[in-house]
Order: sequence, then C-alpha cells, then structure tokens
Amino acid sequence: MTERGYRPLVFAHRGGADALPEHTLGAYLRALEDGADGLECDVRLTRDGHLVCVHDRRLNRTSNGRGKVSAKTLAELDSLDFGSWHPRYPVDDEPMPELSRLLTLDRLLQAVCDSGRNVRLLIETKHPTRYGAEVERRLIRTLQRFGLTEPAPERPVQVTVMSFAALALRRIRVQAPALPTVYLVELLPPGVGRGRLPFGARIAGPGVSLVRSRPGLIPAIRAAGHQAYVWTVNDKADLDMVLEHRVDGVITDRPRFVLDHLATM
Ligand code: G3P
Ligand code: CA
Repeated sequence: MTERGYRPLVFAHRGGADALPEHTLGAYLRALEDGADGLECDVRLTRDGHLVCVHDRRLNRTSNGRGKVSAKTLAELDSLDFGSWHPRYPVDDEPMPELSRLLTLDRLLQAVCDSGRNVRLLIETKHPTRYGAEVERRLIRTLQRFGLTEPAPERPVQVTVMSFAALALRRIRVQAPALPTVYLVELLPPGVGRGRLPFGARIAGPGVSLVRSRPGLIPAIRAAGHQAYVWTVNDKADLDMVLEHRVDGVITDRPRFVLDHLATM
C-alpha cells in the first residue's frame, strides 16, 4: 500500500509480455503468482469463429506460422508454436506447452476460474468493425457460458471489456448492459478530454504518451466520475507520472517491476 492508502490495480499486459511469451497461459499464471491484480488480453476471431488470444492480425511475429489469424481454423492455429520466438523462452529445458500453446479465450477463462484467485480480466476486442458484430457476439456468448456477464462482487473473477472502437462498446452495452467497459484512447477523440465516455463506459483507457502530453486528461476523467486505466506503463518515469495522477489501474508488460516499485512506497 502506498502513502495515504492509494494503490492502483496492476494488470499484466498480454500476460506480462516482457518476461515470457505474450498471451500464453504460462505467462498469465506467472503474472498471478507475481501478485498481479488482473490480466489483459486481446481477442480475435479464427476463420471458424473461435476467439483466440492473439494481439497481431498476422501470425508472423508471435508464432512459427504465417498469414492472418482470421484465415486459419482453430485446429490449424493449435498446431503452431507461440512461444519459442520469445528471447526468454527456456530453450534448454523440456518443451513447455504452457509457454507455447495457442491460448483461446475459453482456455484462459477456465484457467482463471480454476485458479481460485481473485482475478480481474480485461478483454480487448480487436478490430470489431472488420467482422461486423461477430467478435462481441461470440465474446458475450462465451462469458455467459462462464457466468461472467453480470458483476458479482463476491465472485473471484471479474471481467471488463475494452475497445478502441465506440461501436464495440455500444454492442457490449446492448448485449450485456451490466458488463463494465473501458474506452481505450490513443489520440484524443472529441469529448474524452472533458471526461465524456461513450455508451456507458465507466473507465477511460488512455495510452501513457497521451497522459504525458495532456496533464489535464486524468483530472478531467476523474472529475466526470470515471476511472482511468493507463497502458502500457513499463518504466520508472512513466510509472511515477501515472502514480502522481493517482490512476486507478496500471497496465504493464512488467507487472513484477510495478509491484516491486509499489512495495517501496
Ligand atoms: O491495454 C490496452 C492496450 O493493450 C492497447 O494496445 O496494441 O497493446 O492492444 P495494444
Ligand atoms: Ca490490448
């Protein structure tokens, strides 16, 4: 706990992409072991309509596959290696499926529900406009299956949906009105600078460079009664700045570093 009781939530961005291969189950479980409050993941659709946790549109950077995620079936993606590209993949040890297997949203939800821990899951829908309403529809259906569309404070797992697209937030609002949402912003869309968020979003998610260049942004968001989760905060200067602003959530590739820093305050 920092001075005067302030302590932001710490979210492992893509599972804590600095230490281990991003969006792998092993990375997410490590982040929880390290004490992260929550996990951030991106979801996108496969050709046969499954939601998988992959950030990039193409497979090239984070797997041994090539081409678009949306052009592959789940079975095709399941045959790929999503781990050994990473500089810290443990090459000398036995193969580690938890650090190289494709992560689906189902697998991630099952793992966090089975973990017995308090976990706040931030799920970002990628490119909702390209696929019509299908990403959000599949997401809501999946969350309903796990009983996670209604906030329940006594339940260990809480889900919040995030998007850069206001359209996606509107679809979530229509299909699951009680589900909290984050409006992600990189540049400053009209209204957000005065703390106005679209379609019932309760949380603003500005990039850290935007917060740095607009010192009035976080105060405006808070004055409007909203919270702020800032991404992607990976170094001490940025962390000190967002802590100075008393942000509600810090989304980071380096959860251990952020947690260690908070422990010294
Ligand atoms: O948490 C928001 C952040 O993840 C948005 O950027 O490109 O890493 O998905 P990106
Ligand atoms: Ca993301």
